[in-house]
Amino acid sequence: MEAPSIHEANKHKKLGGRTMEIVRIGVTQPYDVLIGRGLLKEADKHLYPFVADKKVLIMTDDTIMKHGYLNQISEKLKTTAGAIHTISFQPGEEQKSMENVTRLVGHLADLNFSRQDVIIALGGGVIGDLAGFVASIYLRGIDFIQIPTTLLAAIDSSVGGKTAVDLPQGKNLVGAFYHPRLVLCDVDSFQTLEPHIFEDGCSELIKYGMIMNPRLLSELMDRTTPLQATDEELVEIVKECVEMKRKVVLEDEYDHGLRQLLNYGHTLGHAFEQCSQYQISHGRAVALGMSVFLQMADKINQLDDHYREQFDALLHQYHLLAEKYDYTAEELSKAMINDKKRRNSTITIVLPIAFGKCDLFQYPIDEFLSWFNEEWQKYEVYS
Ligand SMILES: NC(=O)c1ccc[n+]([C@@H]2O[C@H](COP(=O)([O-])OP(=O)(O)OC[C@H]3O[C@@H](n4cnc5c(N)ncnc54)[C@H](O)[C@@H]3O)[C@@H](O)[C@H]2O)c1
Ligand SMILES: [Zn+2]
Repeated sequence: MEAPSIHEANKHKKLGGRTMEIVRIGVTQPYDVLIGRGLLKEADKHLYPFVADKKVLIMTDDTIMKHGYLNQISEKLKTTAGAIHTISFQPGEEQKSMENVTRLVGHLADLNFSRQDVIIALGGGVIGDLAGFVASIYLRGIDFIQIPTTLLAAIDSSVGGKTAVDLPQGKNLVGAFYHPRLVLCDVDSFQTLEPHIFEDGCSELIKYGMIMNPRLLSELMDRTTPLQATDEELVEIVKECVEMKRKVVLEDEYDHGLRQLLNYGHTLGHAFEQCSQYQISHGRAVALGMSVFLQMADKINQLDDHYREQFDALLHQYHLLAEKYDYTAEELSKAMINDKKRRNSTITIVLPIAFGKCDLFQYPIDEFLSWFNEEWQKYEVYS
């Protein structure tokens, strides 16, 4: 199903449409994604069916806490929930660790959390991935709710049920498919994001455009100013992405086929993240991965010469391709073949076949690595 255009949908809203959009994710245990403005102010109303009289552990990070979101949610739920506990981590990818998983399940046991109780992930993709994984294994699974506070988490990580933590050997190597019971996305919370964090989310937005939505890609390119955290259209944009994700997840919940399209830029992106010890953000790593793989695709899919220039110009608008990182093809290759896309002696990669359309390709690992090596030597960032 083709998602509605940003502009069309916005017109609708101005004509007096709803202020809260609801996307239902119809997996075995279906759940709603609520997207709107001012939703945190009425969190009690939306969360009531999931938290009433239950013990609640709200997980967040220190930056989110400093912005007052943790207090706001705790205050709202204090008369509804049976008991509220909170835990905050330092921000950063390094929190997605087995050490934190062990610490958190122990904490839940100390608090006597039962199968009836619930975890709330209040934050970006890091908190969402960690909280979701802990929820999936504690007592063989307890409920959890996602309250995404970054654009990236709203359009990607909070929906679809992938949860994971990292190992020293690689990113997201331990995890589970485990869906939340509800996703509550208040786009007003993006207003406190640092611009570079908002831009990281735009990388996944551009990814959606490139893999399956040429119209979204052109709309992003045609904008007179880059999308901002304060833009009115954000509700519609988040909804459009969540609908695309829903479509992909419903067709391939366990990532055996179509869902792998969402990994465009990620095989190499994860390698950049790992080689930099997670100093390169996920959004920027993925942007660079998309750009390099577009160059690789040029060769085999014979794309129009202008595609890469146009695509890189869009990535530049969001400051996503600021520098060329100094990693050798060897270091990156080693990290890439540890990635989950490896299947025995072959690797599945996502490559564009047109501007706004990608497909999956399977290559013998040796062939892929020698091809990557060649392209990485030639890779240059257009500025
Ligand atoms: N599970 C999935 O399907 C999936 C999909 C995509 C990405 N991911 C994962 O998501 C992670 C990246 O997520 P992210 O980019 O949201 O990173 P993040 O969770 O580290 O958040 C980025 C920064 O923004 C700050 N922040 C969050 N909300 C804020 C707010 N409202 N105001 C001010 N600051 C705020 C955080 O403190 C943090 O410093 C990666 O670990 C990636 O692997 C998972
Ligand atoms: Zn991603």
